[in-house]
Amino acid sequence: MKKLIIKTAIISLILNVSIYGKNTASLYIQPYIQNVSQTEITILWWTRNETQKNNVKYGQVEPEIIKKAASRYIESVDKYLHEATITNLKPENSYHYFVKSDDTKSGTYTFHTAVRTNSDFHFVILGDGRTDNDKVIQNHRAITKIAFDRNPDFAFHLGDMVYSGDQIHWDRFWRRICTNSDPDDPGLKFASSIPYYLVVGNHEIYSSRTFYSDGNLKTTMARYKAYVSNPKNNSKNDLWEERYYSFRYGVASFIILDTNNTSNDQHDNHQYLPDGSTPDWEPNSEQYLWLLKELEKAQKNSVFTFIVMHPAPYSRGPHGAPDEVQSGYHIRILDPVFREYGVDAVFCAHDHHVERCLTGPEGFEKKMDDSDPRNLNYFIIGNSGQSARKPADGWQSWIDINDNDGEPFYSRYFYDWVKADSYSFLDVDIEKLGEKNWQATFQIIRDDLKMFDKFSIVRESADLN
Ligand SMILES: [Fe+2]
Repeated sequence: MKKLIIKTAIISLILNVSIYGKNTASLYIQPYIQNVSQTEITILWWTRNETQKNNVKYGQVEPEIIKKAASRYIESVDKYLHEATITNLKPENSYHYFVKSDDTKSGTYTFHTAVRTNSDFHFVILGDGRTDNDKVIQNHRAITKIAFDRNPDFAFHLGDMVYSGDQIHWDRFWRRICTNSDPDDPGLKFASSIPYYLVVGNHEIYSSRTFYSDGNLKTTMARYKAYVSNPKNNSKNDLWEERYYSFRYGVASFIILDTNNTSNDQHDNHQYLPDGSTPDWEPNSEQYLWLLKELEKAQKNSVFTFIVMHPAPYSRGPHGAPDEVQSGYHIRILDPVFREYGVDAVFCAHDHHVERCLTGPEGFEKKMDDSDPRNLNYFIIGNSGQSARKPADGWQSWIDINDNDGEPFYSRYFYDWVKADSYSFLDVDIEKLGEKNWQATFQIIRDDLKMFDKFSIVRESADLN
């Protein structure tokens, strides 16, 4: 027995020296990219051990320019984060890159800077992929691969990308789904090649210990904030930095909200999340006032304005019911504000199905015109890994426009694939039509490559700043 213990100790020592030797890093997560603009991009990667030299090497023909990364230990992940923002890039260009921590090199990947303001572009949206178990992980990875094969310029995950905000679930997400970091079960080069914008959902806030919320600001939300590098919102409270943000890409502005809950009892939309664990979102809150400024800016300098958030105000699913414990219904008070500022679409998840609803000014239901700029399309993409749910009992009472439990309903499309074991994402194409007009085309793509609910809206371009 004693011999066995000594032998094991020697083997373990040899392994440790070879894995964590003086100049050898153990790469935990391959590099992934965040926060792209025409001239800048941020690259992050993680090592298991502390390293001295951490650099990105990049170039248009081959990686040759060195950019030093900032490195720090992240307690909530118990690993080392390395982050570098590369500047002075050329718009709409491709660069090859790899990262190196001491003597350990990552794979080589390619990123693209944002398109010029006058160029077409294309992005994909996934939601509720989750990491609950191997089956869900496989579904999430498979639908992510189909999205990746369409060669998007960037992507969103609308929240609930993990089962809970615990480290084991983030480990599954980064290593087994959207980067190829796990040698035993590698994911894709998705996040290493395209900027992946992650939206906070309720499951990112949860911890499995109590399931809802205990200590989330110090643990689960600290983890989210370490994993992403989102544009700053300049909140007075540093806890809310990166949880809502905005960016512009081509002719579009994207405004990403954290509407998972509020501490205002009148608008409480998640009864189990404690007050103070999410930024408030109702009128006159800090996030709401920020939203108004962003909407005003977007209206001036973009052809399209898109809102991105996790809960869905209009949904036939259980989270659409007004009295449900984590209902998106309460967020309907923002609908007139979105329309007043000419928002062109709202992307949501939370309920595990695919749906599109239309709102508009009084009388809009007579025509239900999807492309009328006074009307507003709300998408639910909650089926990028989670199986489909059917509509909740009584949905007619909260999805009816005239408050009579009957037609017309807000829903323009509700998918009927329940029990079909299918998974899907939303594909959005932004395209210039002649001198003045731009077109946004939306289509749901399923894992069998069938397309659903394809339609377009056309908007006139003002003079863009
Ligand atoms: Fe959710």
